Amino acid sequence: MKANSIQSISWQEDHVRILDQTKLPVQEVYLECRDLESIAAAIQRLSIRGAPAIGVAAAMGFAFACRQSTAQNNDEFFRHLDQIYERLLGTRPTAVNLRWALERMLSLARQHSSAGIEVLQDILKQEALKILNEDIEINRRMGRLGQEVVPDQATIITICNTGSLATAGHGTALGVIRSAVEQGKNVCVAACETRPLLQGARLTAWELKKDGIPFELITDGMAGHFMKTRGADLVIAGSDRIAANGDAANKIGTYALAILAQEHGIPFYIAAPVSTIDGSTQSGDKIPIEERSGEEVISVRGTQIAPESIKVWNPAFDVVPNKYIAGIMTEKGILRPPFQESIHKALTDKNN
Ligand code: MRU
Repeated sequence: MKANSIQSISWQEDHVRILDQTKLPVQEVYLECRDLESIAAAIQRLSIRGAPAIGVAAAMGFAFACRQSTAQNNDEFFRHLDQIYERLLGTRPTAVNLRWALERMLSLARQHSSAGIEVLQDILKQEALKILNEDIEINRRMGRLGQEVVPDQATIITICNTGSLATAGHGTALGVIRSAVEQGKNVCVAACETRPLLQGARLTAWELKKDGIPFELITDGMAGHFMKTRGADLVIAGSDRIAANGDAANKIGTYALAILAQEHGIPFYIAAPVSTIDGSTQSGDKIPIEERSGEEVISVRGTQIAPESIKVWNPAFDVVPNKYIAGIMTEKGILRPPFQESIHKALTDKNN
């Protein structure tokens, strides 16, 4: 099994190469983004998506756009960096990895504020590549550490896409599943299709099939019946932002899945890197929830399925309250309740 055979994003000399996820699984098309606007638009339209991958794309977009700066001196250059930061930050509001990556890039630039523009441009390119490589390492570590709670023969329910496509490689929740397979465990996955944009049906099913991992695709509404009649050992979902108290925002439908898991006595886990934890947001009700166009609900892949000109509500994420979460799998181990304490420790303890 080649866990990293899928590359959602890569740096090329004259462009950032992005696998256009809006076209999958029917077409494998790569975008060649040659400026800030094309990278920002790719994030906005979900050509690249998933919290860690959005962070990597933002870092690369930042580094790439600053290489095109026509600034004549450092003051102008830093003013340009602020504009690039704002444009990329505005692309998607929920995934905190976006802000995390951009702040890391900007603060590194400020640490070297007296360096020449070309030196700064090179430092930022190297940092973007570092963020990409670190993400793969982090996911692999998270996958290994998560095995503590994954039994052999496990049936695992998951939602959305949290695999190589949603990260720089390996994946978060799907990374834990990949690591289980790598360790020789016989697991079976139930992948929720994930309405309205079908990241589960289009992307997770594509990745699982490519890797030969046994799975069944179910619609979101089937999850409860699946748990009741077929049973499952655990649910693992990713997250776009985890508040300081452990409340976790993830793809719309995750909240319902967590409640269903509780009702059926199935442990519900979140798998996410520490960069997804937003220590400055105290609880889930303060997490900004992206609302997307109603068009995404009215039509499926360009085919209209509901009457025109109707009211639609399309929040892209929901929040799982911490009381439903058995643990948060991270690269620092599985954080357990009370999350206020375990999260604080993970954010502050440099050695764990
Ligand atoms: O709208 P998307 O496709 O970017 O949403 C992605 C998710 O909700 C993922 O579950 C989350 O980002 C974790 S990905 C590793």
